[in-house]
Amino acid sequence: MSEPINIAVLVSGGGTNLQALIDAEAAGSIHSGKIRLVVSNKPGVRALSRATDAKIEAACIPSAGVSGDVFEEKLASLLDEHHIELIVLAGFMKILSADFIRRYPDRIINIHPSLIPSFCGDGFYGLKVHEAALAYGVKVTGATVHYVNEITDGGKIILQKPVSVRKGETPESLQAHVMQNAEWIILPKACEMVCRRLQTEKKQASSKSKSE
Ligand code: GRF
Repeated sequence: MSEPINIAVLVSGGGTNLQALIDAEAAGSIHSGKIRLVVSNKPGVRALSRATDAKIEAACIPSAGVSGDVFEEKLASLLDEHHIELIVLAGFMKILSADFIRRYPDRIINIHPSLIPSFCGDGFYGLKVHEAALAYGVKVTGATVHYVNEITDGGKIILQKPVSVRKGETPESLQAHVMQNAEWIILPKACEMVCRRLQTEKKQASSKSKSE
């Protein structure tokens, strides 16, 4: 049996996607990885208490009023301390710098509440995504889990799930609909898929080093 991949989940708010990951781990559908750390850039958010309720180490590194470099240095040393191998952005409302992202190639994933490449990129976050989808009149939207690269919402797609837009939908109702019927389903699935890939790569690297 391979050791589970060490996961850190980065959050900024309610943490319902974090909860979906915690529940999936408890149910065994995430078994190739283990959530070792939850980090919020905002103090006092519900996501932090969800982590402590689940007995997961929770930390807050406030980003307000701090330079991006200082924030990311603190974050990187916390991640190193916990030997983190995969970073999951679950409602993390801060853009990470290209330098930071390059430290974790194909090891950072993000959930976005639309079908990328629609309604994504700079300025498309939270309710704004759903407002834009409704203003356009789309009949189908959904959620996407993707790798994070230097382009906002521009990394390779891992999983997507469509959701129908119902009559009389508001941005708030659409947000809830997309979360329940897409985000909370595909984020744990994608997380397990990526952990499995990382376990395989680790095994290959260790058998290669033994044969040298
Ligand atoms: C989700 O809609 C996620 O897709 C977006 O921010 C929201 C976070 O919700 N990036 P929560 O904190 O997981 O409840």
